[in-house]
Amino acid sequence: MSDPARHDSIRAVHWRENHLRLLDQRLLPMQEIFIDCRNADDVARAIKDLAVRGAPAIGIAAAWGVVLAAQALRANSVAIDATGLEPVLVQLNATRPTAVNLAWALRRMRAALVNSSDPLSALTGEAAAIQNEDLAANRHMGELGASLLPQHCGVLTHCNTGSLATAGFGTALGVIRAGVAAGKITQVYAGETRPWQQGARLTMWELVRDGIPAKLIADSAASHLMKTGAVQWVIVGADRIAANGDTANKIGTYQLAIAARYHGIKFMVVAPSSTVDMDTTDGDAIDIELRDSTELLHTAGQRSVVEGGEAWNPVFDVTPAALIDAIVTERGIIHGPNNQSMRAMFADKNSA
Ligand code: MRU
Repeated sequence: MSDPARHDSIRAVHWRENHLRLLDQRLLPMQEIFIDCRNADDVARAIKDLAVRGAPAIGIAAAWGVVLAAQALRANSVAIDATGLEPVLVQLNATRPTAVNLAWALRRMRAALVNSSDPLSALTGEAAAIQNEDLAANRHMGELGASLLPQHCGVLTHCNTGSLATAGFGTALGVIRAGVAAGKITQVYAGETRPWQQGARLTMWELVRDGIPAKLIADSAASHLMKTGAVQWVIVGADRIAANGDTANKIGTYQLAIAARYHGIKFMVVAPSSTVDMDTTDGDAIDIELRDSTELLHTAGQRSVVEGGEAWNPVFDVTPAALIDAIVTERGIIHGPNNQSMRAMFADKNSA
């Protein structure tokens, strides 16, 4: 078994004392440019505009946004407390609706203020903890998920769930990194992930950079790929996992799960427990983000659909728990998720 660190060279979110440095995911892979967020507005914009994206990464970025807001209060000699930070907490929470990691991270930041004699250090420590815990969770999930894989397998992944989408290593891509290091995965297929091309632009960049054998497929080639017998597992991340195991993830995930079940291929969801939302009963209650139709109507900045043509652009869908073979979190593996097995592992996450 080789060292997983060999396939883990990328970090996209860097805290620098008084600003947040983000690898701008809108420009990859053609340009590797970092942007500096110097206040909470900058962070909110970076999340909304997808300079930083991926459920865990937006939670981490938002936590640092709160620290920047607290630093601004301190600079203006204003008390750092929940009242002073409330507008920023609300602003950051409203940037994207589907990934629950955002609200989870902001709840942790708000809680860090309680009974704190030094709120700025408490917030800074909490944001660092959120980031460090995410990296540790990913490494652990990598081992757990890879243990499910057979020798010499092919896997298909969707969207980008790697170091770019997290504190590092990745969720589904972390399992892939660990599976490659263990010598189990011989070929990775990445769906291009229309319309924003997270698979084509980001996942392929990570895999090539980290020396992992990767082939891009058109999203519409997935069923045909499965039929050829080239993949044994579909491995994806999640933006929100409901109390019954229904899972929201990047648009196109649901159809992969349907096709996988038809072809007898296993389907794995990998996400930290911060993605589990026990207060959401099932997938129907998950808010699905609709983004601007220009993402579909334009290609490379140019209109590519006839003038007057319209588009509908939901950017997530929900895979029913019944189509998921395993949910892997840092707490362990749930085989065949349902209300009972989810409650057994995540009862403490229910706020009721
Ligand atoms: O719109 P995005 O790019 O933020 O969507 C990201 C995804 O859907 C990922 O699969 C999910 O956040 C898991 S990332 C570890």
